[in-house]
Amino acid sequence: MTRKKRVAVLISGRGSNMTALIKAAKAADYPAEIVGVFSNRAAAAGLGTASADGIQTASLAQSSFDSRLDFENALTKILENWAVDFICLAGFMRILTPQFTERWLGRAINIHPSLLPAYKGLDTHARAIADGVSEAGCTVHFVTPGLDEGPAIAQARVPVRPDDTAESLAARILIEEHKLYPKALEMLASGQITYNG
Ligand code: GAR
Repeated sequence: MTRKKRVAVLISGRGSNMTALIKAAKAADYPAEIVGVFSNRAAAAGLGTASADGIQTASLAQSSFDSRLDFENALTKILENWAVDFICLAGFMRILTPQFTERWLGRAINIHPSLLPAYKGLDTHARAIADGVSEAGCTVHFVTPGLDEGPAIAQARVPVRPDDTAESLAARILIEEHKLYPKALEMLASGQITYNG
């Protein structure tokens, strides 16, 4: 079998998508392994979950650097030390510079809780409900300099119910996120999909 691709997951909080990726990657025939988890918040709950699973973790606060670029250069050093092939952003709530996203172009993916290109940015669930849409969902896409703008790899759809709140819709979408992200990473790590701009 060809070598498993080395993957770092970047988180800012809970890390439930990270957990779904770690779980999927435990399968012997999964084409990727999660070799490290990074957070911009030392208190991110997901760091503890990853450590408990024997995965190395690191955190850096952007506020302790003079600039976003310095922060990202330190992050790049960590990722290079881990010798990662791919990066998965999983609830990583930091805007990345074009220098960083271009360096990782085609090798960094993100999960977003909307059917992109609809509802880029924050508060996706509340905005979808306010607009009265009948369908919502999640998207895994390549990370490019534009926020939530890179080409989509995969999407999952869920119905929006008349009595939905932002919380109930988010919970229904999250179930799909946990299935979609491991599938998308599998496609990328196995070479079934590649970035071509
Ligand atoms: C997920 O719903 C993810 O799609 C979203 O944050 C949540 C993180 O949850 N990401 C974004 O909104 C990125 N723009 P998790 O930490 O439990 O995976």
